[in-house]
Amino acid sequence: MNILVTGGAGYIGSHTCVALLEAGHSVIIADNLCNSKRETVEKIIDITNKEVTFYETDVTDEQAVSVIFNNNKIDGVIHFAGLKAVGESVDLPLTYYYNNIVSTMILTKACKKYGVNRFVFSSSATVYGENKVPFVESMGLLPTTNPYGETKAISERILTDIAKANPEFSVALLRYFNPVGAHESGLIGEVPNGIPNNLMPYVTQVAKGKLEKLRIFGNDYPTLDGTGVRDYIHVLDLAEGHVAALDNLKEGARVYNLGTGQGTSVLELLKAFEEANGIEVPYEIVERRPGDISSCYADALKAKIELGWEAKRDIIAMCRDAWGFEKNYKDFVEAK
Ligand code: NAD
Ligand code: UFG
Repeated sequence: MNILVTGGAGYIGSHTCVALLEAGHSVIIADNLCNSKRETVEKIIDITNKEVTFYETDVTDEQAVSVIFNNNKIDGVIHFAGLKAVGESVDLPLTYYYNNIVSTMILTKACKKYGVNRFVFSSSATVYGENKVPFVESMGLLPTTNPYGETKAISERILTDIAKANPEFSVALLRYFNPVGAHESGLIGEVPNGIPNNLMPYVTQVAKGKLEKLRIFGNDYPTLDGTGVRDYIHVLDLAEGHVAALDNLKEGARVYNLGTGQGTSVLELLKAFEEANGIEVPYEIVERRPGDISSCYADALKAKIELGWEAKRDIIAMCRDAWGFEKNYKDFVEAK
């Protein structure tokens, strides 16, 4: 199939392009490069030895999007393009609502016009709010604590309603847990803007000596060692989950958790990183981070049964590959 991948130059998008190309699909990337680099597209080509069509396009631009649909025979869309910094979304709500929701509407409008009936959407486990773990797809959504999370919940509702009204339009709403790691080549991976918010890139930058020590946000949560528990998933497993979702689209809008089903605490992840890479990572315990929940992990059964997909890579592989990318990545030293 010819797949339009919006946000395909980004972290999860680039790994998914590799997985799509390796599974025999063709890829058209539309990315405005607001949080990624053109050279990532070259890296995707280097890894796979396959051609990629690239459009430097903002997918909230209806005119520009229709050019892509006009010039290519598109069989399906995977919509990754979005802004994702939780804290920034609190300061810039309009920017987040506009970018993340308007893009979804423009793309579905183009799908309808051009008869494209396969749509896969990047959602987030954040839509579960403070439900009880493990999070199951049948749970009701609870309010999130920030505009970013709301853009995901609203986009899910929009896509669900569109699929209801258009029975030929199939949608997979993929709720990601905590994607980490990188392609084993070390060529593509996560490049956060400025000081990382997320745990794994923070850990790799401490390991590299760019940051002094990790600050662990709270050790008084009701978890095994008091630190926050998350469901870390290797980005390559996540990427393969998209190929499975695309290949197994059914009528209507269907929700799938893409997680491992396994909770790991901050201290456990730190230990795994040290063990996988033989590097000590200094840390201190500080106050809880506002808005954090104690535990977040998936019930991963539905994706296994309906998509025939489950995560295969363990936490050691995640830590090894995250470090493999970080230690190879030159720009970030130069950018400093
Ligand atoms: P990323 O920032 O690396 O990738 C997003 C890409 O979209 C970037 O290349 C950016 O340049 C592009 N983009 C943003 N707005 C655009 C627009 N209007 N037009 C065209 N391109 C645009 O982020 P990621 O981690 O790869 O996340 C991909 C998707 O998955 C996002 O929708 C994000 O909200 C979602 N998600 C990510 C996580 C995570 O922890 N990384 C968790 C849950 C959900
Ligand atoms: N943590 C630290 N120190 C840090 C960074 C994080 O102790 O410097 C802890 C957090 O308190 C949390 C865990 O590490 O317990 C994971 O934190 P992340 O910031 O890596 O991830 P979150 O689970 O908070 O957030 C992620 C995505 C969000 C998404 C959310 C729910 O970043 O976009 O998962 O799916 F909304």
